[in-house]
Amino acid sequence: MNDPSFKIQANHFCSDQHFDNLYPRSIQQLSSKHWTPIGVAVLASEFLAERPGSRILDIGSGIGKFCLAGARQYPDSHFYGVEQRKRLIQFAEKAQKRTGIENATFIHGNFTQLDFTLFDHFYFYNSFYENLVDEEFHIDESTDYSLSLYEYYTHYLFNVLTERPSGTRLVTYHGFREVIPPGYRLVESPQNILLRCWIRE
Ligand SMILES: C[S@@+](CC[C@H](N)C(=O)[O-])C[C@H]1O[C@@H](n2cnc3c(N)ncnc32)[C@H](O)[C@@H]1O
Repeated sequence: MNDPSFKIQANHFCSDQHFDNLYPRSIQQLSSKHWTPIGVAVLASEFLAERPGSRILDIGSGIGKFCLAGARQYPDSHFYGVEQRKRLIQFAEKAQKRTGIENATFIHGNFTQLDFTLFDHFYFYNSFYENLVDEEFHIDESTDYSLSLYEYYTHYLFNVLTERPSGTRLVTYHGFREVIPPGYRLVESPQNILLRCWIRE
């Protein structure tokens, strides 16, 4: 471990507080409510990066925390994040640059614009929940929120997951019920009831 660049990376990933230091204070303040804890990201990516070359998509990747933590842990897999807020993509890319991680890619856009056949496995941290809650739980006011958007996104994700082939892996953190189609089997709840690992039969 004499490589100093490794030490810089390792420091950022040793706790949520250290990871938060990659971002400005306004983003740090959102951390406990909106970004996956490092320990959860490591457990989830252990399940998703099942073999070298796995392509893993975080649906609603925020400031890139899940992708960067997973990519650091599993350098032989590639972690993709799609995020509707451009500002958050910019923070993710800055953090990626600072940590020197190469096996992650951030895509600005709505997840409904993506071709899901390009990915093997999926991570989902209840991204549409923001449509159901009050202002104090919003990341910002840059996007529209509504019950109909929640229903539309949930239904859309349910349909694309239905079309994925046998062997597809999915990790959900927090809410999950409405997006899981029949045919996905719950195989693990490794940390607590909020983290669930599923495999398409
Ligand atoms: C709870 S945060 C999770 C962030 C990240 N996955 C993590 O675990 O740290 C959910 C993110 O999903 C994004 N999001 C919500 N709806 C989206 C959509 N339709 N397309 C793309 N991103 C979306 C939000 O902007 C927010 O950044």
